[in-house]
Amino acid sequence: MKNSILILAVTGLLAGRVAGADAKVDFVKDIQPIFEQACIKCHGPEKQKGELRLDSKAAAMKGGKDGPSIVVGQADKSDLYHRVILAPGSDDIMPSKGDPLTQAQADLIRDWINQGAVWPDSAVGKAVAEAAPTVDTTFTSLGEPQPTAGEAAAIAKLEAAGVPVRPIAMNLKWREANFHMLGTNATDETIAPIKDVVTLVELNLAGTRVTDSGLQPVASLASLLTLHLEHTKITDAGLPQLKNLSHLAYLNLFDTAITDAGLESLKGLKNLKRIYLWETKVTDQGVEELQKALPNVQISRGWENEPAAKLAAVAQKEEPKAEKKEEKK
Ligand code: HEC
Repeated sequence: MKNSILILAVTGLLAGRVAGADAKVDFVKDIQPIFEQACIKCHGPEKQKGELRLDSKAAAMKGGKDGPSIVVGQADKSDLYHRVILAPGSDDIMPSKGDPLTQAQADLIRDWINQGAVWPDSAVGKAVAEAAPTVDTTFTSLGEPQPTAGEAAAIAKLEAAGVPVRPIAMNLKWREANFHMLGTNATDETIAPIKDVVTLVELNLAGTRVTDSGLQPVASLASLLTLHLEHTKITDAGLPQLKNLSHLAYLNLFDTAITDAGLESLKGLKNLKRIYLWETKVTDQGVEELQKALPNVQISRGWENEPAAKLAAVAQKEEPKAEKKEEKK
């Protein structure tokens, strides 16, 4: 979970940028941070998955076991671009683990390749270290944690139910709680004690049986930065509980029944940096309005929700690649 805070800190830096097809992409500023954050731990000095490295120009241009993955000037023909825009959960998607790239990040990669994949020889990437100092900066903005009187008892209760409630990092008093591993065994009742754990900054309720009214205790977690609600039964009726989470930076609503009406409740969350809306019922218009209200948020809707034309284009591009593999065998 430390990782996701880190990613928040990093994407926070990227969030301000909106890629237009014409904007000139700068490798060091725009692309290298993406590779460092999402790729180099598997494609760098430590590991070379698929025999590919993305930490230096020479290595990256050489490509991997399937040959060059960047075709200069042609994102369409570049395996590297194809892999980052696959639907979440696809076998070949990159990064192969963790959060997919956002649409904005994928667009930057596309534009960068199309603009000639300029990569200064001197730019050598490093994987982002797990304990980056940026984490501390995020937390200083929250002030000192002020545990409630009931906090210790609430934590004991949660841990007895099998929910780890741990400090987020060694010398920090902020905590994370993860209900995800209980899955559907976690009900509103299991979750209720969190209302006293006001030092929570990360809360994972993904895949639990939390209901709209079960989100009520979340409303008191004023320092919450990260909230996972994906694969749950929550609906628009639950989202007003999030209205006062003024620090919330990451919200995952993947695979929920949220509609545009639910997005209305999120428009005041000015610190929101990333929101996931794949497989929800939101519309283009609803997303556009949210983007207007929160210009710095990166909204991920997943490829499956892109206009049909784009989907068809991808399907077309996928085919030749499959054929190529066949030929090789
Ligand atoms: C958790 C590890 C992991 C991360 C992170 C990761 N990859 Fe990969 N990548 C792999 C593995 C494993 C393979 C080889 C299997 C395959 O071909 O699907 C691979 C293969 C590839 C290939 C094909 C290389 C070839 O020639 O066969 C490309 C291109 C690629 N990754 C790009 C990326 C990019 C871009 C990122 C970051 C956005 C990324 N990967 C992040 C594990 C990872």
